[in-house]
Amino acid sequence: MTVITCIDDLKALHRKRTPKMFYDYCESGSYTEQTFRENTTDFAQIRLRQKVAVDMSGRSTASTMAGQPVAMPVALAPVGLLGMQRADGEIKAARAAAKFGVPFTLSTMSICSIEDVAAQSPDPFWFQLYVMRDEDFVDAIIERAKKARCSALVLTLDLQILGQRHKDLKNGLTAPPKLTPANLIDMATKLTWGREMLATPRRFFGNIVGHAKGVGDAASLMSWTSEQFDPCLDWTKIARIRDQWGGKFILKGILDAEDARAAADFGADAIIVSNHGGRQLDGALSSIRMLPEIVQAVGDKTEVWLDSGIRSGQDILKALALGATGTMIGRAYVHGLGAMGEAGVTKALEVMRKELDISMALCGEKRVQDLGRDNLLVPEGFF
Ligand code: FNR
Repeated sequence: MTVITCIDDLKALHRKRTPKMFYDYCESGSYTEQTFRENTTDFAQIRLRQKVAVDMSGRSTASTMAGQPVAMPVALAPVGLLGMQRADGEIKAARAAAKFGVPFTLSTMSICSIEDVAAQSPDPFWFQLYVMRDEDFVDAIIERAKKARCSALVLTLDLQILGQRHKDLKNGLTAPPKLTPANLIDMATKLTWGREMLATPRRFFGNIVGHAKGVGDAASLMSWTSEQFDPCLDWTKIARIRDQWGGKFILKGILDAEDARAAADFGADAIIVSNHGGRQLDGALSSIRMLPEIVQAVGDKTEVWLDSGIRSGQDILKALALGATGTMIGRAYVHGLGAMGEAGVTKALEVMRKELDISMALCGEKRVQDLGRDNLLVPEGFF
């Protein structure tokens, strides 16, 4: 029995237990992967300032994100194809998040549909929207998210054109996987993964298949998706979507101070400083490097959250100390899901909360809201 002490342990198990094409889909960035790598190595350059002889009792990681109470300021980021990491992966992640007391965000590109997840998750979840050219599809999916009582809409802005991940092309990534001899051999060695997949009703891209014009199966979906991301997404269209949604509205994928100011002026309930986990513009700076400039540009106009590169509670602490009021994690919980299903997502959250709590105490702080620049030591010229 493997003792799990950190996210890296879950990552090792994820790699062992999941077909290579899906593990690689998660653990990769676009092109040279420079931004993907620097998202994590930049966090490591920021150091924590230890404080002693302070009262550390009565600590709390509790906070709110867009008005919603959270056990810690962390939400599960939208991740496509979760249901290929483990059967019903979206449902498993949503349940783990609800039990733990943090939000789960369902991707447009999920395997389980909005309705599947709503039927099986105890709490409302957030829905992430990719804006497609087909306006009827966009209108309908917003209505479906409303009907399913999704409590926030997260609109992703940084994927109207697709960055290329070399590994996905080399692996011939598809969902469901093509039944080639190499894939069959690989899948045959991933026993739990295969057993759970076989025991689960076949669901594929439930938000799209059967809901978009001309998309009746997984094969027609591939060509639909490659043509559908709307390259003309601008503030007029964003406003139309916000008005149709009418609820909490979060803009994801901002990495520039001017864009952040525009999003804040627009009235977003929160913005997410993100480079999509290094999967889009390779060569962009890490989110954590861009954070202070964006926090300063936005002021109190909206909540600023951060994702990309968070692998520990110490990383969460660093983002909060630099002015984010919330964070999102992607791969950290996907590793948990691929390693151990729902229990693995819970484990990832537990590990990170404990790391956050202990590091906060050793920094001499009791509440996540009290963290600030004083808690950090940052190399000169870093920002
Ligand atoms: C993503 N991300 C993403 N974002 C989004 O808005 N919609 C999506 O469908 C996906 N899909 C997706 C798949 C996979 C496998 C990954 C790893 C990421 C980006 C995600 O929401 C988030 O921004 C990053 O994962 C954050 O970086 P870390 O925490 O993974 O380093």
